[in-house]
Amino acid sequence: MTTSKSARTGREWLDNPAGLGELMPAGFTMGVATSAFQIEGAILGDGREPSTWDTFMAQPGRIADGSDAAVSTDHYHRYAEDVRLMRELGVDSYRFSLGWSRLQPGGRGQLSRSAVAFYDRLVDELLANGIKPMATLFHWDTPEALQHTGGWLERDTAHRFAEYAFLSGEAFGDRIESWVTVNEPATVTLNGYALGVHAPGATLLFDSLPAAHHQLLGHGLAVEALRAASVTGAIGITNVHSPVQPAGDSEDDALAAELFDIVHNRIYADPVLLGRYPQIPEPFEHLFGFLREIEPADLTAISAPLDFYGLNYYMPTRVAAGSPTDATTPDGQSPVSRQLPFSLKPWPEYPVTGFGWPVAPEFLAVALAEHADRYGDALPPLVITEGGASYPDVVQRDGSIDDEARVLYLAEHLAVAFAGVPGVTLRGYFVWSLLDNWEWTAGFGQRFGLVHVNFETQSRTPKRSFAWLQRLIGGRTR
Ligand code: NOJ
Repeated sequence: MTTSKSARTGREWLDNPAGLGELMPAGFTMGVATSAFQIEGAILGDGREPSTWDTFMAQPGRIADGSDAAVSTDHYHRYAEDVRLMRELGVDSYRFSLGWSRLQPGGRGQLSRSAVAFYDRLVDELLANGIKPMATLFHWDTPEALQHTGGWLERDTAHRFAEYAFLSGEAFGDRIESWVTVNEPATVTLNGYALGVHAPGATLLFDSLPAAHHQLLGHGLAVEALRAASVTGAIGITNVHSPVQPAGDSEDDALAAELFDIVHNRIYADPVLLGRYPQIPEPFEHLFGFLREIEPADLTAISAPLDFYGLNYYMPTRVAAGSPTDATTPDGQSPVSRQLPFSLKPWPEYPVTGFGWPVAPEFLAVALAEHADRYGDALPPLVITEGGASYPDVVQRDGSIDDEARVLYLAEHLAVAFAGVPGVTLRGYFVWSLLDNWEWTAGFGQRFGLVHVNFETQSRTPKRSFAWLQRLIGGRTR
């Protein structure tokens, strides 16, 4: 596979975004996405109590640039300006997350009135500007108080989450267009509980898998809770999907790739869409002891019918047998990853983003096709709930930001999304992200925004990608 094809496709739309806009299917939703902890700041407001990320970011050495998210983009105070930017951009929908630790400090009991008032203001502002709100209930900010009782390793956290989902449904259910229960449970399990490079910093390797099951159970119970709260909007989940390829031709590499596909993709998608966990290849069965402990009724809850299925697509993964020698993990360095039976390999044939992630739009089509193949008629309409790229954007002397690489990334991926794949109904694409923000362990070091943020002055400057996307949206025919 070469890069030339996709690069050419991207260049073709560089100066003609409206032409690409004409290819957008009728009724397709264009949106932008963010999450509460990454943009809001004001972490001491509303009686908010710490989340696991508040604790994690305060530990020395955890965040690459030593920063924290205490202020971040100050969206909590600047939401009206940010909604204005979205209106200018012309997007149909905005995906944001409700801060669990803000709305329900401590993870139990009634919602904070001032936090409800904040999200009321945000939602009403969106609606007044003709932008449909898509709310994610859990985007990684587990209340620290629940971590003290075991966090997602404990079943009770799923029940606490369902209670919070019900209360949120009651508070906002008349105005939210779509609900995402849980965002990327795979990342929380792998980075947070297996490798320790995200909050809560546990290094349990395969013993982390109960955290996967309990997030899925939390999802299923939250679907029930939202329906019980009579929300009017559509309900789905967001899983991250990375098509997996073996690094070489050996059987061991093929087996290692299958294992990675299971722990990254299938153990999240299969139970939700098929109501069962995937078959584990015999050599790895002993690593999945958690499967023997599961209560059968859980899978009925987890596979509750959904209105849509959210997919975050960033990149494919190449996998080889054998432990990593350089401790390279899905998200940076973790010594414990040396104990894994597989390692992740680079893709020298692709250009890379600021994170070093391969830019491989062909694999977005592969991701969609894998869903059609694996889930067939069980697949609800899909929405790409995140796609985007970080680059070291440079502010020019005249104040402008010419992020051509991001424009190319978006052009290539949107071209794939608009073309679609047989067997998949693709309803929309949300760009990660509206704003440069606090990128978890990378701190402020990785900028994903269509809008540049100066974190000292909080001034917002739309980049070239913003103007490009604006013209693309303006060019659509419906
Ligand atoms: C997926 C996560 O949902 C989001 O929080 C993160 O910023 C992006 N990936 C980019 O890493």
